[in-house]
Amino acid sequence: MSVGVIGIGHYAPPKVVTNKDLEKIVDTSDEWIRTRTGIEERRIAEDDMDTSDMAFLAAEEALKDAGTKAEELDLILVATVTPDTPFPSVACMLQERLGATKAAAMDVSAACAGFMYAMITAKQFIDTKVYRRVLIVGVEKLSKITDWTDRNTCVLFGDGAGAAVMGEVSEGKGILSFELGANGAGGEHLYQNKSNHLFMNGREVFKFAVRQMPESSVNVIEKIGYNKEDVDYLIPHQANIRIMEAARQRLGIAEEKMATTIKKYGNNSSASIPMALSESVRNGSIKENDLVVLVGFGAGLTWGAVALRWGK
Ligand code: ACO
Repeated sequence: MSVGVIGIGHYAPPKVVTNKDLEKIVDTSDEWIRTRTGIEERRIAEDDMDTSDMAFLAAEEALKDAGTKAEELDLILVATVTPDTPFPSVACMLQERLGATKAAAMDVSAACAGFMYAMITAKQFIDTKVYRRVLIVGVEKLSKITDWTDRNTCVLFGDGAGAAVMGEVSEGKGILSFELGANGAGGEHLYQNKSNHLFMNGREVFKFAVRQMPESSVNVIEKIGYNKEDVDYLIPHQANIRIMEAARQRLGIAEEKMATTIKKYGNNSSASIPMALSESVRNGSIKENDLVVLVGFGAGLTWGAVALRWGK
């Protein structure tokens, strides 16, 4: 049996914060941010919109796209490092708001690789026929743990949500291979500190990411006996355009075959891959039968990649 995405959706809060806006609060420049990261602007959620609110809006869109009723859901997995509260989980809040009365619900914590972990967990339950419909969401309100006085990090992040409904798809479509990994020894390079702010050793994370993203992308392709040339579209975690470019060049694919939402959204952690996936399908960049590679990395350190044949 094949397991794949049967519906997608995303939500980006309307408030735009540009690099010029950040020049007013920290010692930085539009030029530095653009050239070092590829980010031009990011979306920031208002105070009255929390993580679960964004998750709800993305989930509603994904359910509609899938033609699935909330009551049909068997499981809800929410990947986030910025839940409304540590407990109850965002997944439980979502279960209640959607009216997904028969769904089990839990959050998944794997930072920017969280959506990949959620997707592969969903696949196991569907593969084994334990569950039929699983809602997965990647959502972050990073603005609430951002230190707005630290120019090293505050220019990088944004808020948003992306969601997918997973289920059985036609033979040959859906997830063809995957890789998940972790290296807890690298945890010291990216963590939430005692003031509840995000701390990052950018150079160390950069070194890890430029090695891991291309490696994992190639691994999932080779596992299924395909060549790099067979990849139709690449959705890397949107952390830094230079890291993304390293993955793209290693795969040897054309610029227009890689999603680059980083320009307008910045780094949305676990939400970046599903937001980019949803946008790429909506704008026609991903077409039926395309071989798509999703690849993420993040705090933990964690990483994950999936090769999937798009379509139901
Ligand atoms: N504006 C101006 N100057 C800045 C800024 C800024 N916003 N931020 C840092 N600088 C300065 C630094 O202070 C440093 O100055 P110094 O040399 O006087 O000390 C100089 O710029 C260069 O700093 P580097 O760290 O070498 O800059 P680099 O080119 O590596 O870019 C960056 C920094 C963008 C953070 C990069 O290292 C990076 O993208 N790292 C990976 C981040 C990442 O992928 N995170 C993903 C995980 S996020 C998650 O899991 C939630």
